Amino acid sequence: MVAYASQTGTAKEIAERSVEALGRERAALLPMSQLTPRQLLNHRRVLFVVSTYGEGDPPDPAQAFYRQACAVDAPALNHLETAVLALGDSSYRHYCGFGQTLASWLARQGATLLFQPVLADKCDPAALRSWSNALSQQFQATTAIEKPYTDWRLVRRRHMNPGSVGGACYELSFEAAIDTLPFWQAGDIAEVAIDQYGLHREYSIASTPGEGMLKLLLRQRRDTDGRLGIGSRWLTEELETGAIVRIHLRENALFHAPDQAVPAIFIGNGTGIAGLRSLLKRRLEQGNHENWLIFGERQSACDLHYRDELERWLAEKRLARLDLAFSRDQTPKRYVHHVLAEAQAEIREWVARDAIIYVCGSKNGMASDVDGVLRQALGGRRYAALIERRGYRRDIY
Ligand SMILES: Cc1cc2nc3c(=O)[nH]c(=O)nc-3n(C[C@H](O)[C@H](O)[C@H](O)COP(=O)(O)OP(=O)(O)OC[C@H]3O[C@@H](n4cnc5c(N)ncnc54)[C@H](O)[C@@H]3O)c2cc1C
Ligand SMILES: Cc1cc2nc3c(=O)[nH]c(=O)nc-3n(C[C@H](O)[C@H](O)[C@H](O)COP(=O)(O)O)c2cc1C
Repeated sequence: MVAYASQTGTAKEIAERSVEALGRERAALLPMSQLTPRQLLNHRRVLFVVSTYGEGDPPDPAQAFYRQACAVDAPALNHLETAVLALGDSSYRHYCGFGQTLASWLARQGATLLFQPVLADKCDPAALRSWSNALSQQFQATTAIEKPYTDWRLVRRRHMNPGSVGGACYELSFEAAIDTLPFWQAGDIAEVAIDQYGLHREYSIASTPGEGMLKLLLRQRRDTDGRLGIGSRWLTEELETGAIVRIHLRENALFHAPDQAVPAIFIGNGTGIAGLRSLLKRRLEQGNHENWLIFGERQSACDLHYRDELERWLAEKRLARLDLAFSRDQTPKRYVHHVLAEAQAEIREWVARDAIIYVCGSKNGMASDVDGVLRQALGGRRYAALIERRGYRRDIY
């Protein structure tokens, strides 16, 4: 069995490809949200592919497994052969923390680790090859685990916020350089290969397949000396219109639009509008108009990305409510969590009607404050119930 714990789809995808490499007739795939430590007693060999968040924490879908694993009555696993592929990013303090914790726990319970945990820094291809090789050696897996990239042509790059005091923001539009448009869903993530450095950068997709174009919204990021980041420089300055770029579309299943006609609240800042716009577009395509957008940026004069569209949707009542917080338009500064704090009663009312809350954009500058206000507005019981029914979906970075 290949078990995975994934927040934004990477571990899921690598687990799926591991199953394919092992052969579907031999290996099964299971999300850790459907696995308990006790169920490991029913399996002889389990491979884990897991990512890490927060302070070395598991992704949300593996929180329950981890809680049960820490309990005193966790089962002895002397019968079990196992291995761990830990995904992470070495710029975080707790690098691959959950994968390493999981491997230590498995060993402590008596399981045999078939090989040392493989740590993959930002999906480093060498680490993925070493996982692939280990699967070949241990299980005679046949195919390599490679990401399917497709060619896309940059057809337009648009500066979205001239005159802003904030970092420059660009919309990049790509058309497929192959005959059929690759499939994606609103909420998914584009991994753009930056081949000259052998790395990739991730961006929330801003468009739906219905638009026939893949759109991304990029903020130029600079280090303290003012030098542009690798992806920022290449994508917003060097890449010429007409150039071909390799992009992999990653399914981000925990951030998709709901299938049911429930209300939805979209909260975000800056380039976070990208993920929210694709979801809103999807909702409008589905005919679901109970949409509430709470968006924050710096200056109303330059930073309301997709202004015309949002104002049109509002006038057409396809967007039920639009609240904007522009931090630099007044003192004291105003942010999206201030809007939320003022609208607590309405938030409770929407949540009582099974609204789904989407949050997209800055993890530190926005999502943590939004989370604080939500907990307070809903109270512990309703907040827990919201998470339990998968009503709180986040794409934050
Ligand atoms: C799931 C996901 C979705 C994303 N969606 C978008 C999006 O829609 N639009 C968008 O513009 N970006 C998005 N990002 C961020 C993007 O992937 C890159 O990290 C960003 O473009 C910077 O890359 P770079 O190569 O230009 O900078 P780098 O060369 O990697 O670094 C440049 C400088 O930025 C600093 N830095 C790197 N990451 C951060 C950070 N998170 N916070 C503060 N400083 C940092 C570095 O320390 C360095 O000083 C997303 C990230 C994730 C994980
Ligand atoms: C908000 C955020 C927090 C993260 N925290 C950590 C961390 O503490 N340690 C680490 O090694 N990696 C961290 N990462 C990197 C992820 O684990 C890595 O990108 C992984 O490939 C994501 O896999 P997933 O898409 O399956 O969730 C973090 C990434 C994000 C976006």
